[in-house]
Amino acid sequence: MYYIGIDLGTSAVKLLLMEGKGKIANVVSREYPLYFPHPGWSEQKPEDWYAQTMAGMKELLEGFDRTQVAGISFGGQMHGLVILDEQDNVIRPAILWNDGRTSAENDYLNSVIGKETLSSYTANISFTGFTAPKLLWVEKNEPENFARIAKIMLPKDYLAYKLTGVHCTDVSDASGMLLFDVKNRCWSKEMCEICHVKETQLARIFESYETVGCVLPAVAQELGIPGTVKVAAGAGDNAAAAVGTGTVGEGRCNISLGTSGTIFISSEKFGVDQNNALHAFAHADGHYHLMGCMLSAASCNKWWMDDIIGTQDYAKEQAAIGKLGENHVYFLPYLMGERSPHNDPDARGTFIGMTMDTTRADMTQAVLEGVAFALRDSFEVAKSLGIRIERTKICGGGAKSPLWKKIIANVMNVRVDVIESEEGPGYGGAMLAAVACGEYASVEEAAGKLVKVVDTVEPEPELAAKYEARYQQFRQIYPTVKGLFPKLK
Ligand code: XUL
Repeated sequence: MYYIGIDLGTSAVKLLLMEGKGKIANVVSREYPLYFPHPGWSEQKPEDWYAQTMAGMKELLEGFDRTQVAGISFGGQMHGLVILDEQDNVIRPAILWNDGRTSAENDYLNSVIGKETLSSYTANISFTGFTAPKLLWVEKNEPENFARIAKIMLPKDYLAYKLTGVHCTDVSDASGMLLFDVKNRCWSKEMCEICHVKETQLARIFESYETVGCVLPAVAQELGIPGTVKVAAGAGDNAAAAVGTGTVGEGRCNISLGTSGTIFISSEKFGVDQNNALHAFAHADGHYHLMGCMLSAASCNKWWMDDIIGTQDYAKEQAAIGKLGENHVYFLPYLMGERSPHNDPDARGTFIGMTMDTTRADMTQAVLEGVAFALRDSFEVAKSLGIRIERTKICGGGAKSPLWKKIIANVMNVRVDVIESEEGPGYGGAMLAAVACGEYASVEEAAGKLVKVVDTVEPEPELAAKYEARYQQFRQIYPTVKGLFPKLK
């Protein structure tokens, strides 16, 4: 049997075909545009997601026995606001997870409604990229669009709806809306009132590994797959990546180096950190997790390579990097503002410390290190909660770089376990489909049987000590320049 995992990312949709025993049979990727209509705004067209997903699935299945496809599921970019009218037409482009337009609504939620109240209803506070402040933004700035809303969806749920006709979501992705009572895994009536939405406008909630429905006959025909193919609810991309890297059950850690950078800690018990600096969300394995999310991670390196120095040869640029732990240049990776732990949409990217002898390689190194230092900021919050992390998995586009993995292992001073495939969310999505189809009894069983560690990057004591000193410098930069950012508009 085959299972399809759809990783609905920000730069592209990545599709993965997995055999029942876990072997990856094929992977394809399809890009779509990302729009920045104003500085700090970030939008995409849900219609593009669907068109590229269907085109990608056709390509994925070329040369394979389509009658053997049993299930489909997802890992999807989180928090995006997709709104549909009565006829299920998309009302406006989706407002994405890294969009910073909702400063005013975010302040209203955190200050007027109050962080404690929000946390008691949802286990989280508001961040500009979350879905609830976006609804308030649409209500205020586009009242005619707000009045037309019949359904509120998350990005991957739009795909599930197009494939099955069911308005559904899953617990892990719903957690990032600030409309969801994470502890009790249901919609929060209070938050619906605060955001002026009715529960009927929200989707039906499923566990990530539950079947939402079968593919619609027209979809089955177009793809040449059986009409019995099950679609499982899937998960937010971070929870799906955690499944794909075996970060399930109690106390495991995964770092994702994608467009965003996240540190994800699985937990069997529900728990919230007192300052809500880390998100407390439901996990795709039926339990919970804590997560810190930085808005620009591998995207900083992509920006630096593609747009600024103008090269596609990332490996060559990284090969020119000399000594680790001794760079005098620092980079604050806040190209889209920052979420965890600063919650500051005004924060901006910053290079500091250059001298006349600074080289192109030093700047490239500073970008890689800046991302690692900023991830460590969230890691420090986890440590302050008494969570001990000695090893982590890693996935995402940035995890393909051996140098970046080494920098991360030493900046965090943890062992970094490298698994057979870096296709975190796509692989996790396929695993969730396999669980929904009964190939595995639980997500934990699937993770135990399918995820294999093939290498470990060990921190080196001397280098880790050098990076410790560098990190202590890095962490002073943001508080020092923070007051300037709002004035730089
Ligand atoms: C997580 C988050 C990002 C997106 C990226 O809270 O906003 O990791 O899910 O797709």
